[in-house]
Amino acid sequence: MSGTMNEIGVILLAAGEGKRMKSGLPKVMHSLGGKPLFLHVLAAAQRLKPSKVTIVIGYGAETVKRAYRNGDITWSIQQQQLGTGHAVLCARDSFREFAGDILILSGDVPLISEQTLKAMIHSHQERSASLTLLTALLNEPHGYGRVLRDADGQIAGIVEERDAADTQKQIVEVNAGSYVASAQFLFSALEKVKNNNEQGEYYLTDIVSIGLNEGKRIATVRVDDPHEMMGINTREELALMEKRLQEQVNQKWMDNGVTLKDPNTTYIEEGVVVGRDTVIGPNTHLLGNTVIGERCRIDGTAYLTDVQISDEVHLKFSVVLTSSRVAAGAIIGPFAHLRPGSSLGPNVHIGNFVETKEAKIGEGTKASHLTYLGDVTIGRDTNIGAGTIVCNYDGFHKYRTKIGDRVQVGSDSTLVAPISLGDDVYVATATTVRHDIPAGALAFNERQERVREGWTEQKREKMKGTKK
Ligand code: UD1
Ligand code: CA
Repeated sequence: MSGTMNEIGVILLAAGEGKRMKSGLPKVMHSLGGKPLFLHVLAAAQRLKPSKVTIVIGYGAETVKRAYRNGDITWSIQQQQLGTGHAVLCARDSFREFAGDILILSGDVPLISEQTLKAMIHSHQERSASLTLLTALLNEPHGYGRVLRDADGQIAGIVEERDAADTQKQIVEVNAGSYVASAQFLFSALEKVKNNNEQGEYYLTDIVSIGLNEGKRIATVRVDDPHEMMGINTREELALMEKRLQEQVNQKWMDNGVTLKDPNTTYIEEGVVVGRDTVIGPNTHLLGNTVIGERCRIDGTAYLTDVQISDEVHLKFSVVLTSSRVAAGAIIGPFAHLRPGSSLGPNVHIGNFVETKEAKIGEGTKASHLTYLGDVTIGRDTNIGAGTIVCNYDGFHKYRTKIGDRVQVGSDSTLVAPISLGDDVYVATATTVRHDIPAGALAFNERQERVREGWTEQKREKMKGTKK
């Protein structure tokens, strides 16, 4: 890029309700790829390093504000949603002293790219335009504002679908809803915008004809890939875009050496990292800040949120893992649930119907069947028998349990927290442990086993004919 760049400011429009979504949530808060629509736009804008960003909010303003708490932007309030032109005017106070160019973006156009924005700014400044707008050629232009051009091909105005004559509806060049305008032109033109249209709104798009009447230079830039200017106005459009984003992300991971057995049912959010030669089965969700190492196997039906998984981990069919860490070589599942704060050492085995929570589990330890491990620290090479329950909650408080190295906990035992089992402890089958057990000791409950010979036959005789 040549020449000196004018200062760039950004106005992001996010005040609309999004009536066509039929939602209690403001439209820009609907989630795409795991984050609200407007945050996609904001991220693209911020990569341009603008000197100022203001987001115009109104409908559901508090909800939108809560989704972005960094102090590096300002919020402008549009009390009543009187249209896109009115929305931009609501940001004027933030630009009182500003003499540069303002990029105006819609919070509901989430895939707009940094490259396109740069191309717009570049073209705008090179041509010394007062206003530059992004346009696209669409096979199905329905719903978008149409770009009117004169005999010389110069832009002559924009007409909204609702206000368009039938012949204008045939036009396939649409207004993408992204603009660069000199601050000075923008705000003076907006003051002249009227609301005499079908919706009774103040249209931002009217500054095109206002500028043309004043002899200003109005330029257009055409977007290369029309997909990036697609707006989200309905749930259907949201679903289609989600699908598209999913395809892009999956393609990226396949290009990076990850096997996806069924890309159609693999959902990987943008912030996720997957190591090469990892094989991912169908119906896998990798969400949030999840990181998966190399050569891992995820058999399928897995729901992972914010988990860090090292190399060569095997997640068998059907597991749910949340805010947890798993060291190399661990095997988890089928049907296992790692709740927040679980941290598994190398080569740990967590088997079917095992649930962990705030559980630090040492290298090589196994809990293979039907077990609850909550608020525990377990050493290495320990074996937790089938059906072991750590009773961490007494109805009032949660307590921690500590289990040493090389411990054998017999099946069907209950460990009543807070307790500590030393290294090399043996807990006999079906023991309720209520006290600390010193290293190397056996813990068992005195309980007599009795046998009544012939009992079954007597019982059956007695009950004969009474079964319903
Ligand atoms: C707008 C353009 C249309 C263009 C399309 C591209 C106008 C008049 N029309 O139409 O030419 O083809 O975008 O996507 O600008 N908003 C506010 N306050 C308001 C109204 C809207 O902040 O009072 C915000 C919305 O939250 C949204 C954005 O502005 O993020 C666009 O509004 P929307 O109603 O979706 O405009 P479109 O009908 O799509
Ligand atoms: Ca829209």
